[in-house]
Amino acid sequence: MTDPRLAVIVLAAGEGTRMRSKRAKVLHPIAGLPMIAHVLTTARHLEPAYVEVVVRHQRDEVSAAVIEFADDAIVVDQDEVPGTGRAVELAVQALPADFDGDVVVVSGDVPLLDAVTLGALVEQHRAAAASATVLSAVLDDATGYGRIVRDASGAVTAIVEHKDADETVLAITEVNSGSYVFAASALRELLPRIGTANAQGEKYLTDVVALLRESAAPVAAVPVAENWRVAGVNDRAQLAEQAARLNAMIVRGHQLNGVTVHDPATTWIDLTVSIGEDTELWPNTRLAGATTIERDAVIGPDTTLVDCEVGEGAIVKRTDATLAVIRAYATVGPFAYLRPGTELGGGGKIGAFVETKNARIGRSSKVPHLSYIGDTEVGEGSNIGAGTITANYDGVNKHRTTVGSHVRTGSHNVFVAPVTIGDGAYSGAGAVIRKDVPAGALAMSVAPQRNLDGWVLTNRPGSAAAEAAAAAEGGAGTDPSGA
Ligand code: UD1
Ligand code: CA
Repeated sequence: MTDPRLAVIVLAAGEGTRMRSKRAKVLHPIAGLPMIAHVLTTARHLEPAYVEVVVRHQRDEVSAAVIEFADDAIVVDQDEVPGTGRAVELAVQALPADFDGDVVVVSGDVPLLDAVTLGALVEQHRAAAASATVLSAVLDDATGYGRIVRDASGAVTAIVEHKDADETVLAITEVNSGSYVFAASALRELLPRIGTANAQGEKYLTDVVALLRESAAPVAAVPVAENWRVAGVNDRAQLAEQAARLNAMIVRGHQLNGVTVHDPATTWIDLTVSIGEDTELWPNTRLAGATTIERDAVIGPDTTLVDCEVGEGAIVKRTDATLAVIRAYATVGPFAYLRPGTELGGGGKIGAFVETKNARIGRSSKVPHLSYIGDTEVGEGSNIGAGTITANYDGVNKHRTTVGSHVRTGSHNVFVAPVTIGDGAYSGAGAVIRKDVPAGALAMSVAPQRNLDGWVLTNRPGSAAAEAAAAAEGGAGTDPSGA
């Protein structure tokens, strides 16, 4: 149920220079979704009446992602006044004037902060009737963070930014995580009073704390239980760390749901993937996007599936597949490359060193070895010979190959599309099929074989081949020259 007295502000206007990226920082993905999507999902779980995202750098790209993942979020543009205080001030101004509930402030670059932690923070804030409640963290190395300054009684008196801190303050190990709950009324009243006279020339949100203290309003700081939850992503190393943590949680979730994951450290599963019970994942497997895997499947090792559908009991080894459908009890790989539009029917097979694209291969049909099958339809129970190529491209246009059911094609065939092979037809080894093959026919296109007897003895005298040939004929003279 929506909490009419709660708003969430997501800060995402910062430049993110340390990412050294042309992509906005909050759009870098972890577990298949941009960081900001994770934060928006968490915000949504708090069931606030309003979600706002403050943008400035690459505002068009960031706001497009915001709308994609939270279409009811309010996008607030920050002006040229820098600082978290200004960002929140503008966001609060964008709330209805009569909103006087609580405001959760989080950063778009802290993807693993969860709704349970934030929900508890809101409850503590409300139970204490505080004006501000800061989620803090106690760190061994507090470098760079704002420090939580407390008086002798332990009450929070200020947050001092690292760059503005003296030695006494720098020695404090309790830091501001950058997530808070504020009374909206406190922000409305105090943010306009905050200036930019500090080491960074920015309007600090954290200055609200000292002002509240001056007016004797209660401020609390609550240390987070697990520091990694509040870790921000400022560079690619931190991006990888948080991605690995999230992946470990996702893998564990699947394990607890009955999926065997042999090597969690090398198994990467996007948040959006679903996997059925008793499915087994072997090392170096990446399951991405909208991939769904039914029960009893065996995936990997060394397999990447992006936006794929895998049926019950299917086996997919050493395979790279995108937008492919692999139906129940089919087998794929090793070393298969399934491109978009591949659909393999139940019990079918795409074997070693086979590439497919836009290919519907019917139930129990097989493409077992060394083939390229593109823009093709194969019926049921057919077998495509080793080394078959569908020549689907005439240099200008793509054409379709249609193979019926219960067809047996020879090894090393080329199907020059457009071409149709009827039900129950056969083709000989090495055939180049340029014309349609009627149902039940045997198609052959290779010229009849001619053997030129004695050709080697005559034309390659003295060679090892000639000697072997002569020996096979039982002849004595191995060297017709007599030398
Ligand atoms: C901020 C806190 C600091 C805390 C740290 C935790 C302030 C003044 N300091 O510092 O006490 O320990 O976070 O990581 O708040 N942002 C905007 N608009 C701006 C500036 C920043 O939206 O004008 C956003 C950023 O995109 C980011 C968040 O606010 O998501 C924090 O900004 P950042 O510059 O990283 O703050 P810090 O200096 O790290
Ligand atoms: Ca930061």
